[in-house]
Amino acid sequence: MIIVIANTKGGVAKTTMAVHMAAVLGAQHRTLLVDADPQGSALSWAEEIEKFPAVAVGRARSRGLARDLRSLATDFDYVVVDTPGSRESGIAGQAVSAADLVLVPIAPTAADFADMPKTIELIDDAAVAAPPRILAVLTRVRPGTRSRSDARAALIEHGVEVATTELPLRESIAGAYGGPLAEPALWEALIQEIIRFEVAA
Ligand SMILES: Nc1ncnc2c1ncn2[C@@H]1O[C@H](COP(=O)(O)OP(=O)(O)OP(=O)(O)O)[C@@H](O)[C@H]1O
Ligand SMILES: [Mg+2]
Repeated sequence: MIIVIANTKGGVAKTTMAVHMAAVLGAQHRTLLVDADPQGSALSWAEEIEKFPAVAVGRARSRGLARDLRSLATDFDYVVVDTPGSRESGIAGQAVSAADLVLVPIAPTAADFADMPKTIELIDDAAVAAPPRILAVLTRVRPGTRSRSDARAALIEHGVEVATTELPLRESIAGAYGGPLAEPALWEALIQEIIRFEVAA
């Protein structure tokens, strides 16, 4: 299964999600983390972690990326792909065209929502014979706030499926960047949702 983490907006927690998901999946399944962002932060983060449980590679060129991901996927149960925030390079589009599932991390803020149509357009433009499932994941959520429930309702209203699991705004997650991972139970919950979907599909 190829899981691509995409959002054309920068700083929405794509890399945070990619590294944590790959690590938690990697503890139980053959997992490959592909850092498709030229910034290379997912790869250098994974390399910082002692005994990172997934294989991590950098692959930040759009040319042939979809084909390469499909071929890499034959040796793994899960391939998790971190993509860059801008769509200029065409990398995210190529990655999405190879995806079985696109996870779109999004914070419940007006700025993130204003940018959402660009991500949907990116996914639509990359449409292939079998379009991937798209699942928005609310991140940096402040539990119990109006912004949280409004954001969920707005996504659903726009026909976007939203994961039940939400990632709260947490110092531990912010502080994990580049170092040891945080909140494994939260990522595990998100993974369980994905696996349930995979079984149902
Ligand atoms: N749940 C959270 N709570 C608090 N801070 C978070 C959370 N998720 C991510 N962050 C912080 O938000 C910042 C941006 O996260 P990250 O680098 O993962 O985003 P990105 O989408 O990959 O950015 P870019 O588009 O630049 O690649 C980081 O400092 C990260 O530690
Ligand atoms: Mg990133």
